[in-house]
Amino acid sequence: MSVADNDVNIHIRTGQLDDAQAILDIQRYVIMENKFLISVPDEFDRTLEQQKKWMRNVLENKRETIMIAEKDDEVIGWLVFESPNRKRLSHTGSFEMMIHKDVRGKGIGKMLIMELLNWAEKNPFIEKVSLGVFSTNKRAISLYKRMGFIEEGRKYNEIKLSEHEYADDILMYKYV
Ligand SMILES: CC(C)(COP(=O)(O)OP(=O)(O)OC[C@H]1O[C@@H](n2cnc3c(N)ncnc32)[C@H](O)[C@@H]1OP(=O)(O)O)[C@@H](O)C(=O)NCCC(=O)NCCS
Repeated sequence: MSVADNDVNIHIRTGQLDDAQAILDIQRYVIMENKFLISVPDEFDRTLEQQKKWMRNVLENKRETIMIAEKDDEVIGWLVFESPNRKRLSHTGSFEMMIHKDVRGKGIGKMLIMELLNWAEKNPFIEKVSLGVFSTNKRAISLYKRMGFIEEGRKYNEIKLSEHEYADDILMYKYV
């Protein structure tokens, strides 16, 4: 897979149920990399049916969305924004995203976040967009800061990566 910087063939769109397999594949791959997410490989056994059910719930919720990055009809990245089902938290939500390993660092994550922020600005319910990121994930942190997210706290040594290796869980936010 090759993606040139500012590739015009990349476009961002809302997710649909037909994307379930493609996003599950990317998710499985990132979990197998075992560096960026809380789930470890032997904890992730989601089936396609479960993925579709989860996606259906997200897509039917006015405060939530899934964004897809696509190149030449191939899904190369995705983002999900979920909002708590509690009145006092319903103006907030957090997102998680992942890009196919071969095309990271080429601005696709930035495109997805820009689209999310556009969506959130227009959404009548959402006022605050949040996320959590491992302190070891330098690329993700750099991207989030560049997109205007601010650190609001961190859970120190919250993530145990291996016997003697820990990461902080950095909490970031942006008002929209
Ligand atoms: C994190 C991730 C979503 C970012 O998407 P992406 O398409 O790679 O990001 P972009 O290319 O839009 O932007 C990356 C930024 O990090 C910078 N960067 C790239 N490699 C870097 C590195 N090793 N260290 C620090 N910064 C780095 C880039 O220069 C760019 O910053 P800039 O816009 O200021 O130039 C993607 O890399 C990914 O899927 N990683 C694995 C899964 C993951 O970590 N998900 C997030 C969990 S919180």
